[in-house]
Amino acid sequence: MKFTLLKLVLTLITLFGVHLSVYAAPDFAHGKKIDQEKCYACHAKKTGFGNGDMIYTRSDRKATDLNKLKSMVARCNTELRLDLFPEDEADVVAFLNKQFYKFK
Ligand code: HEC
Repeated sequence: MKFTLLKLVLTLITLFGVHLSVYAAPDFAHGKKIDQEKCYACHAKKTGFGNGDMIYTRSDRKATDLNKLKSMVARCNTELRLDLFPEDEADVVAFLNKQFYKFK
């Protein structure tokens, strides 16, 4: 009886822990996929560079710290009605920061 209860508690802790880590850790691959599918083409066109990555590395870039990066992603998402969920936004921000901006 005691053993079963202990097992149940341990299972719950494990499940809960896994669940939490899913939300805590950004999914870079998912962020990259979103960037490629929803962002790259327009950035390539709008900047005139013909390359959708260069908006993130241009010398006069708008995102000059992590908070500005977050708000630029949010701005493109809401103004252009891209329908990203907050988790998606967080994944793209994490990907862009890791790949291009490298803010602390
Ligand atoms: C329909 C066109 C369009 C789409 C789609 C789009 N953007 Fe943008 N984005 C722009 C334009 C135009 C700018 C430049 C805005 C400016 O210079 O004020 C920009 C700028 C940005 C910047 C700032 C770059 C810098 O200067 O540092 C980020 C970050 C960004 N977009 C993220 C995204 C993300 C992430 C997505 C996809 C989820 C996305 N955008 C989709 C048009 C778009």
